[in-house]
Parts: sequence; structure tokens; C-alpha cells
Amino acid sequence: MGAGAQHQAGQPLLIVLEETPVVGVPAALEEERAVAPTITMEIEELAAAEQVVTPWEVSAPDGVDYDKLVDRFGCQRIDAAIVDRIAHLTRRPPHRFLRRGIFFAHRDLNMILDLYEAGEKFYLYTGRGPSSESLHLGHLIPFMFTKYLQDAFKVPLVIQLTDDEKFLWKNMTISECKRLARENAKDIIACGFDVERTFIFTNLSYLGGPFYENVLQVAKHVTFNGLRGTFGVNQEDHIGKVSFPPVQAAPSFSSSFPHLFPGDDQLRCLIPCAIDQDPYFRMTRDVAPKIHLLKPSLIESRFFPALQGESTKMSASDPKSAIYVTDSSKQIKAKVNKYAFSGSQASVELHRKLGANLDVDVPIKYLYFFLEDDDELDHIKKEYKEGRMLTGEVKQRLIVVLSELVARHQRARAQVTEEMVDAFMAVRPLPNMFG
Ligand code: TYM
Ligand code: TRP
Repeated sequence: MGAGAQHQAGQPLLIVLEETPVVGVPAALEEERAVAPTITMEIEELAAAEQVVTPWEVSAPDGVDYDKLVDRFGCQRIDAAIVDRIAHLTRRPPHRFLRRGIFFAHRDLNMILDLYEAGEKFYLYTGRGPSSESLHLGHLIPFMFTKYLQDAFKVPLVIQLTDDEKFLWKNMTISECKRLARENAKDIIACGFDVERTFIFTNLSYLGGPFYENVLQVAKHVTFNGLRGTFGVNQEDHIGKVSFPPVQAAPSFSSSFPHLFPGDDQLRCLIPCAIDQDPYFRMTRDVAPKIHLLKPSLIESRFFPALQGESTKMSASDPKSAIYVTDSSKQIKAKVNKYAFSGSQASVELHRKLGANLDVDVPIKYLYFFLEDDDELDHIKKEYKEGRMLTGEVKQRLIVVLSELVARHQRARAQVTEEMVDAFMAVRPLPNMFG
């Protein structure tokens, strides 16, 4: 997305848009109509707020505007009625990520819930691009939530590790990508997935057979113009960036997994992810009816922000922005104290008088994601906002919460053996996956 970077504030934006062959074409589908305005609106927005959200870049100087994103991408908001409905259907309290609006957007989630209510089945699909030795706290969001969904709905789950994607996008060898995929699989398994219901695969080893047939079907039905609009690739990019997106689309179709769903190409799919992955699945949903397959449903989260604040997501490629699940409690303490952006005032006296600005305060945002107790969270917010609690005290509480979370994760990960990784990755039937 170089367009935004070149733009000078106050000057008209001169960007020649390609013809978008969408308006008036009879085959134009819901998603395509959502994508067409996206191209123009994105540029208007670049001029205004310079908000960029793609699978490869999240940058919004004034903080990500999630309302705008929902409108621009054309997804729906998750409201209290949906949260209630999930709680009733699963007969358990909704995950804090749902009650607090962290998973805030969806596509056709009601269709999945209708199906489940009628006693029918679906499967979950999520993934990870193994670009770093270990996961960071932001990556835990979709995986923790997917684990909750798997337990609550008792459904099978496929997890795609896109080692091929990282080879194409990063400066890494194929063997390094493969190694990181396996290391990341251990972190993912440590989130507690059920081996009886979970298939983890890496593209470099699984691609082939009916999965590759679906990759080809998707590829044949996406034009370069469509792809350019959705992903922002340009003429100088290598063609790997053009060939990859169908590979992330294919797991949305049950026929890609004949060992799990033999003979069934019409099992519905629900994809939990952060909203940066939405472009892949807009493309997938556009193509699905053209190849006589079902559109996947989506449930999408906000970003866990960088330590520096809401203008970008926590990212594995910037160590200063991220807390990794491998960090020691000493490192966590140092990072929170040194880097976590504070919304408190310049001096203690001023803070006592004016209180903190919670809208920009990173420690409060992190507690919002990870402090389970609603009452304690409300209490801290109130005390801090009204200046009775100081930023150091809030950070202190956060350090404890994160250290416990990370220590728990590290204990679980230490239990994950190479044999367990092989077991999750074995191409095998899962006889009790709906049980
Ligand atoms: P990757 O490895 O960039 O991210 C893995 C998952 O974590 C989410 N995520 C975040 N969530 C909250 N806050 C953050 N700061 C944050 N950073 C990343 C991502 O949205 C994603 O859900 N191409 C994908 C891999 C993939 C995939 C999928 C993801 C393949 N198939 C299906 C989701 C669903 C990637 O590189 O993800
Ligand atoms: N209203 C609850 C909250 O905001 C969330 C909720 C909805 C809930 N349905 C529920 C909690 C059923 C428990 C059971 O926290």
C-alpha cells in the first residue's frame, strides 16, 4: 500500500484507479460489491486518516477505526443478541473476548448458529504464518478463542501453517520456514487443542490431491484486477504474491480434507481470525458460488495493540512492539515498564487531578484482553481514570497477569513433544470429531 505513504497532506490524491469490472456485471456478488467501493473508499481514507489494514500491514496513526473497517470491508457487527445466542446454544458463559467485543465482526455467523441449532454440523478453520520463532500475545487471541469455540461447539478444527507464504513474503529459506512452522505448531498445541478433533498441517507438506484441486478452482476464478483490488499487489511484486491467496482459500472448503470429511464437499466452515485476514476470505466468498461450494463464515477480532499503542498491531517482526510467549517474567516487566504507552498525565499531581486517558492507555487495553475478572477490571479502570490509581500500579497488575499467562503457556509448551506434533499433523480420520 504505497499510495498512502506518498500522499502529502492537503494535496489532492492523484491515483488512477483501474477499471473495476464489477458494477452491472450480473455475476457480481455480495462480496464483490463490498470490494468495489473498498478500492475507492480506501483511497479516500488514506487521504483522511491514512488507515491501512491488509494481511501484511496495519497502520493507523490515530488508532484503528474499527467502525470504518466494518463498513469498508462489508462485514457485520457482533451485537449483544449474537453473544446471547452463542451463550444459550453452547450452554456456557461467552468467552471474555465475546463479552468484551474483542471479537466484534462477522460474516454469516448466524447461518452457522442456525445450522447448529438445527443439529447440523460445521468445522473450524484458522491458521498462522510462521514468521518468528515463537508466537506473541496477539497471536494467542485467535487461538485461545478457537479453543473455546472447539470446546463449546464440539467441532473439528483444521489449522493451516503457511510456511509457503512466509517463504514468499519474508527473507527466509524454505527449510527455515519449515522449521518455524513446526516450532509454532508446539505453541499452538500448547493452547490446549484436542488431538481427537484437530488437524494441523503445513502447506509445504500437505499441498496436493483434492486440496490442490480446490486451489486451482479458486485460482481460475480470480482475476488479477480483483486480486490487486483486494490485496494491493502491484506490477513489481513477484508472482508468488499472486499465486498464494488461493492456498489460504482452499481450507475453507471441506473437500480439501478427504481424510476428515470423505465425500462431503458441503460442510460449512467458520473461520476465527483477526480482521487483517479478511481480504483472503472476501476473495474466497466471492469465488465459492462460482465453483459450487459454500461460502465460509467468519468471526473476526480487533488487534492486540503494539506496546507503543493503537496505531499498529502487535507484530512479530518488531521485537520492541511485542511480548512473546517465550519472554521471561523479567523481560515482560522490563518491556511493560519501558515501552507500554501510558495515558496518564505528565506529573503525579496532574494525574491525581485529571486522571488517565484510558482511550490511549496500553496497560488498560492489555488488561481488557487478559484480565478475566470483570469487576476487578471495572474497578481498575475507574480508579485510574479518576486519578486515584497511578500508571505504575496498573502496570504492576498487568505484569502479574501477563507473567502468569505466559508462565502457564510455557509450562504447557514444555509438555509438547515431537511425537505430539506428529500426531496432530498425521493425515488421518478423526472418528469422534463431532462427539
Ligand atoms: P499470522 O501468522 O500473521 O497471524 C496468525 C493469527 O493471529 C492473528 N493476529 C492477531 N490477532 C490479534 N492481535 C494481533 N496483534 C495479531 N496479529 C496477528 C491473525 O489475524 C491470524 O488469525 N496468512 C495467515 C495464516 C493463515 C490464517 C488462515 C489465519 C492461513 N490461514 C486462516 C487465519 C485464518 C498469517 O500469516 O497469520
Ligand atoms: N451480558 C453479559 C456480559 O456483558 C454477557 C452474556 C450474554 C452472558 N449472555 C450471557 C453471560 C449468558 C453469561 C451467560 O458480560
